[in-house]
Amino acid sequence: MLLHCENRGVKGYIAFLLLMNVPCSLQTSNTVNPCCYFPCQNKGVCVRFDLAKYECDCTRTGYYGVNCTIPELWTRVYVLLRPSPGFYHYILTRFKWFWDFINATFIRDAIVRLVLTVRSNLIPSPPTYNSAYGYVSWEAYANVSYFTRVLPPVPDDCPTPMGTKGKKELPDPNLIVETFFKRETFIPDPQGTNLLFAFFAQHFTHQFFKTYGRMGRGFTKGLGHGVDLSHVYGDNLERQHMLRLFKDGKLKYQIINGDIYPPTVAEAPVHMIYPENIPKEKRYAMGQEVFGLLPGLMMYATLWLREHNRVCDVLKTEHPTWNDEQLFQTTRLILIGETIKIVIEDYVQHLSGYYLKLKFDPQLLFGVQFQYRNRIAVEFNQLYHWHPLMPDSFQISEDEYDYGKFVYNTSVLTDYGVEALVESFTKQAAGKIGGGKNTNLNLLKVAMGIIEESRKLRLQPFNEYRKRFNLKAYTTFKDLTGEEIVSKQLESLYGDIDALEFYPGLLLEKTHPKSIFGESMIEIGAPFSLKGLMGNPICSPEYWKPSTFGGETGFNIVKTASIQKLVCLNVKRCPFVSFHIPDSKSQDTTSPSSKPEL
Ligand SMILES: *[C@@H]1O[C@H](CO)[C@@H](O)[C@H](O)[C@H]1NC(C)=O
Ligand SMILES: *[C@@H]1O[C@H](CO)[C@@H](O)[C@H](O)[C@H]1NC(C)=O
Ligand SMILES: *[C@@H]1O[C@H](CO)[C@@H](O)[C@H](O)[C@H]1NC(C)=O
Ligand SMILES: *[C@@H]1O[C@H](CO)[C@@H](O)[C@H](O)[C@H]1NC(C)=O
Repeated sequence: MLLHCENRGVKGYIAFLLLMNVPCSLQTSNTVNPCCYFPCQNKGVCVRFDLAKYECDCTRTGYYGVNCTIPELWTRVYVLLRPSPGFYHYILTRFKWFWDFINATFIRDAIVRLVLTVRSNLIPSPPTYNSAYGYVSWEAYANVSYFTRVLPPVPDDCPTPMGTKGKKELPDPNLIVETFFKRETFIPDPQGTNLLFAFFAQHFTHQFFKTYGRMGRGFTKGLGHGVDLSHVYGDNLERQHMLRLFKDGKLKYQIINGDIYPPTVAEAPVHMIYPENIPKEKRYAMGQEVFGLLPGLMMYATLWLREHNRVCDVLKTEHPTWNDEQLFQTTRLILIGETIKIVIEDYVQHLSGYYLKLKFDPQLLFGVQFQYRNRIAVEFNQLYHWHPLMPDSFQISEDEYDYGKFVYNTSVLTDYGVEALVESFTKQAAGKIGGGKNTNLNLLKVAMGIIEESRKLRLQPFNEYRKRFNLKAYTTFKDLTGEEIVSKQLESLYGDIDALEFYPGLLLEKTHPKSIFGESMIEIGAPFSLKGLMGNPICSPEYWKPSTFGGETGFNIVKTASIQKLVCLNVKRCPFVSFHIPDSKSQDTTSPSSKPEL
């Protein structure tokens, strides 16, 4: 019971502790909520009792004790034997000969299964909290308008914004961005990531990262919470119907210079965001309302549109009796499957830098406990702000485009065509994400927005997330950045490493050698990503069979999809297609050997 009493300050609080039963001579606002100390370790749950007491619920954590810090016997053995994430990463990104050998054996399946389950198990499923509910509740479970979250918000009544550590006021976001994020000179990603990857990332993630600011804090418009291809088909039935041709399952399209492109908003009247000065006939209609922003997004929208209509033709040949609806629905499932296949085997494979060959095979999980459901988390949205990928200008064929000429320029798509754009984006290096000082001036306001949002949502400190994902909390800023200058600056701004915020922590952590980012981005990001991909219903035993995809032909389209086939089956001249810039060996970008076996 909370009583509103006269302010007795610290003395009142002490009196309270001494005389537990004295009613109403105590001031509640000076009693620190004990959960503000984040006392419960090892995923224990903090529950407040009375005014200043708490209990940690350590059920099934493998630990016991007041703060869930004492390991049970088996936990002790397990923790002793468990190698650190740094060790795994070291092994997986070295010894190519070893992994080439593993790839040819059944051990590969076992390791991929292990990677998928160990990662996915870090994500609560069914989901638990959201930004309005820091405790388990039916509303947090059932109201899918919220992004979920893995750690509850910092309680509202804590002494500092980050709990009890750090200063009373967090540093000015503008200062953080200017000091740590602003690019001086472009730093290319050492893993060779290119713009084809960067735009894929942006296109792919905007089907489920759809913050709905107007509704309040922590809401999403993406009610599918995963790979639903709402960025191709729209996120509601009305929009989908506007985009559909209602013939042979196909989507509406227009032909320009002999090639298929998305229809104009006049032909498919859906809400799209374009500046005033773009004429109606240059406004394309796509599943996602923001995709007019960049030619790279429109390029992918065009590729998936062509792929959809191509697969419809394939299905129609085998199933002449099927109506429009069945052709459409089955094609959508095939494209969802293709997307997951491409994301795991081309996109995540590239990003991980692993020599272990990843594999999209839902059967790997059929023998283990796994929940086929997913809810997009605020933390996943926050960490996926990979704007340092973006270069300072865009090189298309022989021409250079600065942001002013590139953004909302819908002519670029049709003037150059998909082939030339794929070719150009494949050749151009993307920026390194981790390590700081690599965000283009035009995008600094986005970084600022992330920090402001994380404060409104009261995200827990970076170190609490480290611990939640089985990583050791950093003890000093130098430990985090691995250098002197930035760590000193961070220290003076934040005061305490335990008060460092989530996004700055992720971006300013020292990167793995020759890698795009550091340990935390991988160890926290991969679980969200893999759970989201494998938690899709098409991966479940009831769905993962030929009939779901219209028979063996459709099933095979899913099982053999690749980024190269997505492009080359939908253009006339097949360019070199990859998520990394061409190395010297494959410099000849139009060699016939790059044509996939179709
Ligand atoms: C539990 O955590 C609190 C807050 O961090 C700390 O003050 C206390 O000493 C801890 N208790 C034990 C038994 O470890
Ligand atoms: C790995 O094995 C698969 C088949 O098991 C094969 O298709 C692929 O080319 C192999 N990859 C490497 C890098 O050896
Ligand atoms: C979800 O919660 C918000 C905020 O309370 C509310 O406005 C909305 O109607 C809820 N949605 C559903 C489907 O109940
Ligand atoms: C848009 O791109 C075209 C090339 O496709 C270029 O000629 C034009 O100048 C660009 N428009 C603007 C406003 O920069």
